[in-house]
Amino acid sequence: MKKIGVLTSGGDAPGMNAAVRAVARAGISKGMEVVGIKRGYVGLLNEEYVNMTARSVSGIIQRGGTCLYTARCPEFRDMEGVKKGKAVCDKLGIEGLVVIGGDGSFRGAGDLSSLGVPCVGIPGTIDNDIQCTEYTIGYDTAMNTCIEMIDKLRDTTQSHDRCSVVEVMGRKAGYIAVNVAIAVGAEAVITLERDYDLDAIAAKMVKTMNTKEGKHHFIIVVAEGIGKTDVIAREIQEKTGVESRVTVLGHVQRGGSPTLRDRVLATEMGYHAVELLEQGIGNRIIGLKDGKVYDIDIQEGLAMKKPFIDHRYDIFYDVAY
Ligand code: ADP
Ligand code: F6P
Repeated sequence: MKKIGVLTSGGDAPGMNAAVRAVARAGISKGMEVVGIKRGYVGLLNEEYVNMTARSVSGIIQRGGTCLYTARCPEFRDMEGVKKGKAVCDKLGIEGLVVIGGDGSFRGAGDLSSLGVPCVGIPGTIDNDIQCTEYTIGYDTAMNTCIEMIDKLRDTTQSHDRCSVVEVMGRKAGYIAVNVAIAVGAEAVITLERDYDLDAIAAKMVKTMNTKEGKHHFIIVVAEGIGKTDVIAREIQEKTGVESRVTVLGHVQRGGSPTLRDRVLATEMGYHAVELLEQGIGNRIIGLKDGKVYDIDIQEGLAMKKPFIDHRYDIFYDVAY
């Protein structure tokens, strides 16, 4: 391929810039022209792009967000939109495309591949909710942001003998919640993947308070997808008598300088994506399996089921008291 494109799509994630940089640098060093398409599929349809050079991606590896901007593009959900995208690629001479985003973005990439523009997806989302990969870009950074915030929160929670009910991101997945709950030494974690029992959580808190050493402050981590963090805090207060406060960490989790892990993962994945396109291979998602970067057919990857971290969840509850 002589010319490839790269775009970021859907919710942003720290480390997307590192992936864009790797794609640009790998492509250029293989003698390709690399075009950065702005605002995901929206920018593709609007022909909003920049020609990338090795220097135009300097100084971005350590920056959160995405220098290419991102967007959600309803038009690309229909084949009419995808056909328009194919026509733009033909017009601009883009022979292959790297799509950094989540599963919706990969569906679009699969559709575009089926029309003859080979696309390779790189998983970029803090939620780690992409079935065919053990890790997604941004997940590690987001969890580190959470623990930094919750460590601060514990100080004031402890001073006031309170319970902090902390909502972390994860629209459909509790991976962030469970890992963060372990890492901050929380007393309970509530996620969509496992049943929870507020009476049991409250009883455990009361029991803990009544021990000789008596613990009087608590952290409960709730995954966003549960959708009722306020109700949980109110009920915990009613059931235990412990004054409770809600903290929603929100979009702060999506920003910040990516961790080493996210930068390295993004670089390896970006490089691998270009290696595939160089061979004319598309319709693939890059993932991490047994700690190694690999690639899989888009439809096959999207159809996979990702096991929840049940073992870790169980360990959490065995040491949380
Ligand atoms: P997020 O979960 O942050 O919204 P996604 O990667 O899931 O990110 O989706 C981002 C974009 O992918 C959507 O705005 C749309 O442009 C595209 N997309 C989503 N679903 C589909 C689909 N079924 N077919 C084609 N494109 C899709
Ligand atoms: O998918 C990543 C994510 O951060 C979810 O955890 C969250 O629910 C969602 O994106 C929020 O998206 P936005 O506010 O950008 O629409």
